[in-house]
Amino acid sequence: MKMTLTVGVIGGLLLSTGLSAKTLQPQDSLATQQETEAVILAGPEGKLNQARTNAKALGGALKARLQQAIAKGGLEEGVEACYVAAGPIAQALKKDGWTVGRTALRVRNQDNQPDGWEETQLHEFADALSKQLPMPLEASRWNEETGELRYMSAIVTGQVCTACHGNNVDPAVLGIIREKYPEDTATGFAPGSLRGAFTLTYSPE
Ligand code: HEC
Repeated sequence: MKMTLTVGVIGGLLLSTGLSAKTLQPQDSLATQQETEAVILAGPEGKLNQARTNAKALGGALKARLQQAIAKGGLEEGVEACYVAAGPIAQALKKDGWTVGRTALRVRNQDNQPDGWEETQLHEFADALSKQLPMPLEASRWNEETGELRYMSAIVTGQVCTACHGNNVDPAVLGIIREKYPEDTATGFAPGSLRGAFTLTYSPE
């Protein structure tokens, strides 16, 4: 099977101005990437742009939904929102051949466990964040033969997120979470650290 595989961590600004872009091989280190400043992601540009748009739509909707729910019913309602909002959006995108989801190195919902490729990208993202490389952090993998495109974009922990994913989650809230997710490992995240990533796959019909 012929596979074009490029893993890149890029700064959005640099990419849009098209400065000194270079395609990297997966074994290239982050140090090399820093030197070259920008990386072209693997895959056709149109599909990559769709992936970015879809990831942003999902992120925006989840955040809005979460804030609404917390304002209305407190963190208790929020626990539902972080899950519920993702469903309809994922469903709407499915008709165009996209599967969208979220993943992380430490998950709350075991269905969100990363596969091998995702896990590698998550480690790269965490590393890039700790080195304060420019956002957004993204990665992609394109199978030229089947036309399948995978795309990931990093999710950074915000202050609001720490109420349910941080170091000092209110015991009452944690109780509700652990009742629903007994295998939860998604606490202990500091603001500014990597919480996870949006993960999208395009499969041609
Ligand atoms: C009110 C509690 C609450 C808040 C606040 C909250 N989350 Fe969550 N989060 C959850 C729950 C519950 C899940 C499990 C959802 C599911 O079943 O898919 C979850 C899952 C996730 C996942 C999927 C990976 C996993 O661990 O299963 C990510 C990524 C995530 N949250 C990011 C965030 C970010 C970023 C913020 C802040 C903008 C945030 N969350 C705020 C409760 C919360």
